[in-house]
Amino acid sequence: MGLIVVSNREPYSPVREGDGELHWKAAVGGLTAALDPVLRERGGTWIAWGDGEREIRSVELPPGEERYRLERLHLRESELQDYYYGFSNRALWPLSHYFLNRVRYLGRYWRAYQRVNRRFAEAVVRAYRPGDLIWVHDYQLCLVPSLVREALPEARIGFFWHIPWPSSEVFRTLPWDREILEGILGANVVGVHVLEYARHFRSCCRIVLGYDNDGRVVRISQREVQVEALPIGIEAQTFVELSQTPEVRRAAGELRQQVGTPFLLGVDRLDYTKGILERLEAFGEYLGRYPEAQGRVTLVQIAVPSREQVDAYRQLREQIERLVGRINGTYGQAGWTPVHYITRGLDRLELVAYYLAADVMLVTPLRDGLNLVAKEFAAVSEQGVLILSEFAGAAAEMHEALLVNPYDHDGLVRAIGQALSMPLAERRQRLECLKARLRRFDLTTWAKAFLHALEENR
Ligand code: ADP
Ligand code: G6P
Repeated sequence: MGLIVVSNREPYSPVREGDGELHWKAAVGGLTAALDPVLRERGGTWIAWGDGEREIRSVELPPGEERYRLERLHLRESELQDYYYGFSNRALWPLSHYFLNRVRYLGRYWRAYQRVNRRFAEAVVRAYRPGDLIWVHDYQLCLVPSLVREALPEARIGFFWHIPWPSSEVFRTLPWDREILEGILGANVVGVHVLEYARHFRSCCRIVLGYDNDGRVVRISQREVQVEALPIGIEAQTFVELSQTPEVRRAAGELRQQVGTPFLLGVDRLDYTKGILERLEAFGEYLGRYPEAQGRVTLVQIAVPSREQVDAYRQLREQIERLVGRINGTYGQAGWTPVHYITRGLDRLELVAYYLAADVMLVTPLRDGLNLVAKEFAAVSEQGVLILSEFAGAAAEMHEALLVNPYDHDGLVRAIGQALSMPLAERRQRLECLKARLRRFDLTTWAKAFLHALEENR
């Protein structure tokens, strides 16, 4: 049985190096990081927006391994502006993360979203062979399930929503709330990361569309749609193995030497949902309150720029840069820079070396569908402490982390102190529990559970 995966973002981006040669570079972001290994294992077709190199319509991936085929859909600049930067990232993204002050609900965005979703659906129908499983991902493609259902009434269609599903009070501010829900309900099985999101989704179906729920099922006149809370996992074993290689251990040792003090680490896409400013402010406050910490602890913040054509993201980047400058200017000394700020995307090896070298990992989003960084750190770290926002979906299963409310400035400052002074035995014990769960519910378990639900659905 074939698998067709559909997402907006492609797993690898084509990059021309100085020599003009084409390379495929892994994209930064939770969804593609998670799905690439699934398709590597099962094979199949991945349909996504082809960002750049327009003449390449189709390519075998991953580079050098050729395990699955990527079909690349090219979008016109105006489509990209209104569908991706517009409806996806100025309407649905802030709405779902409870940032109502940032939403822009424009008719122009909505029309482009409908058009582009139709193009994705047509590509699915072209690729489909009877018996295939179709798995559509995320908020950029909500209309694809129902559009595919119209063309292929018998197809098995799964839909996974990777970000938070907001409460109906918030969701109903969207002028196209009915259409988005009806679009998703074209699927047989709808997945979200956390029980609370599943509850919100079902109550939106009831309040907005009048559809009854029965346990995990939403009843529509002719059909039933199964709603599953399935938190995504990571390839825990692969991360552990990588962290044990001599290259990574050497790189981690070098990092510790270069930073020169114990360090706190942040790794995020540069996004206003991630709480990067709040985290920096808390670190600055910690240095101010505890002068003895000055020169003795460092924050390494890695923040890869993202969606830079949206004002909110550009403004945030400037705010972060100003704040880093202020903290470094206020507390820096010869031989010690309080905040190391890096905007590069790292390769896997480097990323794992940072996780391994860090004393404390700060994952403090204001809201996050799940957050893979928290899981990756816990899989790799041998004696570090994870500080985790209670508003990240991952908090529902990572109780042994130091859970914080990122809006609580003092609480965050206290958590930094607590993490830095936590006894070794306690750090190890907390990590052991986290690791055991990561091994049990890894990426393969997640993908299998979802695809099993889809295959079994009648
Ligand atoms: P989101 O999906 O919102 O970006 P997640 O934490 O769920 O957030 O996933 C982010 C993914 O991107 C993780 O797999 C992480 O390792 C990766 N990532 C984040 N920042 C970087 C970076 N600077 N370099 C390389 N990979 C990164
Ligand atoms: C989150 C979203 C994904 C998205 C990723 C990166 O993980 O859930 O759908 O691909 O962020 O964002 P981008 O806009 O660069 O694809």
